[in-house]
Amino acid sequence: MDNQNLSGTRRYFIRNAIKSFFAFIGLGSLLSFFFLYPSEVKKRELKFFHVLDEDEIPQRGVKRTDFSYEQGNRVINTKTFIVMTAKGLIAFSPVCTHLGCLVNWDRNKNEFLCPCHGGRYDKEGNVIAGPPLAPLAKLPIQIKDGKVLVGIKV
Ligand code: FES
Repeated sequence: MDNQNLSGTRRYFIRNAIKSFFAFIGLGSLLSFFFLYPSEVKKRELKFFHVLDEDEIPQRGVKRTDFSYEQGNRVINTKTFIVMTAKGLIAFSPVCTHLGCLVNWDRNKNEFLCPCHGGRYDKEGNVIAGPPLAPLAKLPIQIKDGKVLVGIKV
């Protein structure tokens, strides 16, 4: 075998080895997604929790409500922010849309503030400063039998 044939065979081998490597990685990732993706997450369903009574709905400002629920054998303590806006009653998730820290309502500044990287949101959940690119998530909300219920996927 001359040098030219040998180098062509080597190139062919290396090219196929690289293709096989990426095919293997891609297949592995796909299988991991289907088999390792937690089945609990797939099965989550929307449940509504009582967070405050209808007569406690803030007409101005923001009301923080703390509540807990069970997920599997764990108790999850969380909070939501109930806000009456021109568009109606809204329940905001406290989770900052940047990297997931929990925001707080600052009554004096009239803003939601994220303690991690300075993300700031207005009363309607819109980003006004900092790194978050998306507004605060709105949670499903309903009023039933004088109770304000907020929906969480559990
Ligand atoms: S996690 Fe909120 S600003 Fe980064």
